[in-house]
Amino acid sequence: MNIEKIKSDFPLLSRKVNGKQLVYLDSAATSQKPKQVISAITNYYENHNANVHRGVHKLSEEATEAYEGSRKKIADFVNAKANEMIFTRNATEGINLVAQSLGFRKGDEIVSSVMEHHSNIVPWQMLKSRGVTTRFADIDEDGILKMDDYENLITKKTKLIAVTHVSNVLGTINNVKKIAKIAHDAGALLLVDAAQSVPHMPVDVRNIEADFLVFSGHKMLGPTGIGCLYGRSELLDAMPPFMGGGDMIKDVKLEGTIYNDVPYKFEAGTPHIAGAVGLGAAVDYLVKIGMKNVHEHEKKLVNFATTELQITETYGNAPENGGIVAFNVHGLHSHDVASMLDENGIAVRSGHHCAQPLMKRLGIVSAARASFYVYNDEEDITKLSASLKDIINLLKRKKVV
Ligand SMILES: Cc1ncc(COP(=O)(O)O)c(C=O)c1O
Repeated sequence: MNIEKIKSDFPLLSRKVNGKQLVYLDSAATSQKPKQVISAITNYYENHNANVHRGVHKLSEEATEAYEGSRKKIADFVNAKANEMIFTRNATEGINLVAQSLGFRKGDEIVSSVMEHHSNIVPWQMLKSRGVTTRFADIDEDGILKMDDYENLITKKTKLIAVTHVSNVLGTINNVKKIAKIAHDAGALLLVDAAQSVPHMPVDVRNIEADFLVFSGHKMLGPTGIGCLYGRSELLDAMPPFMGGGDMIKDVKLEGTIYNDVPYKFEAGTPHIAGAVGLGAAVDYLVKIGMKNVHEHEKKLVNFATTELQITETYGNAPENGGIVAFNVHGLHSHDVASMLDENGIAVRSGHHCAQPLMKRLGIVSAARASFYVYNDEEDITKLSASLKDIINLLKRKKVV
């Protein structure tokens, strides 16, 4: 991978922050966008903009072709079929769609984990009012999910296991294929939160045997406001729609409505057409680099960062890490660390990372997080560790005074 060349595709990465060259280490929150994605969106609005699936005029045909072409491209990217790929606003909406439409009933059980982002906890907790119980698998001292917990927590009443493929804090890559087997052996389904995996490594929904899988476009070089829910056809066919309105119907009478086929049944109203087009261009960009190369590149960066950040306290020690390192500087709140780094033009995330139960499990209130992507290199990490060393030395001097 030619990182210099890749970097030059991202206009924002050339800007300065606080007078310093920007070092962007917050891609797990949202990635930057290459010019290829930005121009695909501009080109759509300048040359093809119209509503989809409605008009017979030329522009509407072109817009529909662009929208459905992107769906096919994105489906191929994770080895799904186009009609198994529903466009949503983001990963969060995909999880909520399954929570609301899968038909959870009183007495049903769900197994989530302490490692999850709030998006993979709260939608399940919201089913409590329907009499649904959610239990949580634990992690071990290395930040790896305890497989025994899944075996122990799963019962005949378990309808679904919901698990993140890659932790947005620890970086742990979970063995979701193994969790799929545990779920299926017990007659339950598996939902994989792939918000941090699809952007960073090859993901094959069939190989991991996911029943549902969600991800967000904005974390994979695409625009905000577009995401995807993959679902097995027979499950999606049997599920009622999440929202009603235009485009999700075959026939509407005042007495009742016949719903459209999947995926349209789940896409009520005018969709984010330009968003889908942008995400299609992002997939083209990633395919060109090759997802194996992306993963290998980030593995190297994580190994390098883990050594460089020995000067801090880091969290998680899984053998497989998806390009994320969370850390704390002893004696400082993570927001203070992130603000001091920002003065040097270095952007890292700080806070609880929408994973408060995980923070509690780790015995901390917050952490700083460096996350890597295709445009990062070892120099970015060296700049981060040099700034952290300065911060630590400053703290020491203060203590002496
Ligand atoms: C593991 C994980 N799941 C879900 C989400 C939610 O993504 P979004 O806000 O795009 O829906 C995130 C976002 O950080 C995440 O890291």
